[in-house]
Amino acid sequence: MIAETLVQHDEKRQGEAFYKETKISKPIEGFYYLESYGCAMNFSDSEIVASILENMGFTSTKNVADASLIFLNTCSIRDKAEQTIRQRLADFKTLKKTKPQLKIGILGCMAERLKEQLLAEEKLVDIVVGPDAYRNLPSLIEESEAGNKAVNVILSREETYNDIIPFRLNTNGITAFISIMRGCNNMCSFCVVPFTRGRERSRDIASIVNEASQLFEQGYREITLLGQNVDSYFYVDNETGKSFNFATLLVAVAQISPLLRIRFSTSHPKDITDDVLNAIATYPNICKYIHLPLQSGNNRILQIMNRQYSAEWYLNKVKTIRQYIPDCGISADIICGFCSETELEHQDTLKVMTAVQYDMSYMFYYSERPGTLAARRFKDDIPVEIKKRRLNEVIQLQNQHSLIKNQADIGKSFEVLIEGFSKKSDQYFMGRNSQNKVIIFPVDNLMRAGDYAQVKVNDCTQATLFGTIQ
Ligand code: 5AD
Ligand code: SF4
Repeated sequence: MIAETLVQHDEKRQGEAFYKETKISKPIEGFYYLESYGCAMNFSDSEIVASILENMGFTSTKNVADASLIFLNTCSIRDKAEQTIRQRLADFKTLKKTKPQLKIGILGCMAERLKEQLLAEEKLVDIVVGPDAYRNLPSLIEESEAGNKAVNVILSREETYNDIIPFRLNTNGITAFISIMRGCNNMCSFCVVPFTRGRERSRDIASIVNEASQLFEQGYREITLLGQNVDSYFYVDNETGKSFNFATLLVAVAQISPLLRIRFSTSHPKDITDDVLNAIATYPNICKYIHLPLQSGNNRILQIMNRQYSAEWYLNKVKTIRQYIPDCGISADIICGFCSETELEHQDTLKVMTAVQYDMSYMFYYSERPGTLAARRFKDDIPVEIKKRRLNEVIQLQNQHSLIKNQADIGKSFEVLIEGFSKKSDQYFMGRNSQNKVIIFPVDNLMRAGDYAQVKVNDCTQATLFGTIQ
């Protein structure tokens, strides 16, 4: 308790320094309400935003009615994600009428994609801030409080928010994200991310290791290193001239403590190296789990998606992963119904899925994003009913594989990091094994969240393993 008070006090003092540095004339008092959508990177960015707001003097609230500032950190990856945000905005209409001083801000990818257009389309919105412009939040908020609409969507080639200590929102105190790079240079033809998050840049390795060490000291036991394409992490220390790739970063973080688990996301199949696989095989605290987006199992589709690998090359990569790490968990992202995809080409995706037998997958049907290479070059010509039917087939197959993979774990024993009680009952703990599978097991009164338990699996569904502590 005392430690917590000290931390908070310290954060407020940092805040005093911060508002002096920025052009804000006095610390602001009021509540902010921050909601995040989309990928883990967005949730991680929200913690940077929260840190900036807390330093200005704002306090976080979970009750939107108390807020003088509402921020939605948005996602543009599919049209549905953007529609969700527009509906959410409509919820705030009455609130804004009763509270004219309330400011509403749109952050993240949708802000970057639509820019000033958002202000014209959504009258409720006062502030629009892209993913590289969060440092300017203090002046943007001040501008909006002066009665002006405030926009900053400038993308940066350098910004990594290196020096900003994230303010952990909705934390369980055990698992945390650390952003290691920003942006993406890959230009997959369906993807809006290179346009909304800009060019790739890697964060200083020392600041990453520092953040991970601090989290460990605070009691966190698992960190997930985040980047759109972690395998192209590359940082050169200006003073020593020494360079660091993702494998060296993984090892540096793994060496903080054997009790600190390391995960990472996302890998691009064309970039993941044997050095990375070797690091996973060597360090027991680097989790044996790789998210390896497939997107399609057909070579022509992969080519027009600009994925830069073939199905054979991908399958070979999976083989290599299993040579280095025989019990590695593997998951994928899959897109159904990309431009011009035929039935036979769709069947190729099912074939690769069957060959790999993913533990789980994130599956979508193609959603054309304005401005992307695919939107400019190819016709979005697969009717939505066919896209949905193909997606359904992919989901059905994945469900079968998930069940088979989970059934194969019955009788095995895993080291599980306890994250807390299960959602349904505080008589059960919930944790994950190295392969990222969720395991539910009866509480042991001598153990608590953050401890490692050895759990033997005795039952499963396609989504969850059940077991008992050994
Ligand atoms: N339509 C459907 N899915 C998409 N993804 C990215 N862009 C699109 C799109 N336009 C999926 C990819 C990616 C994941 C994060 O989202 O599978 O790996
Ligand atoms: Fe998008 Fe491809 Fe970059 Fe992933 S690797 S963020 S899918 S462009």
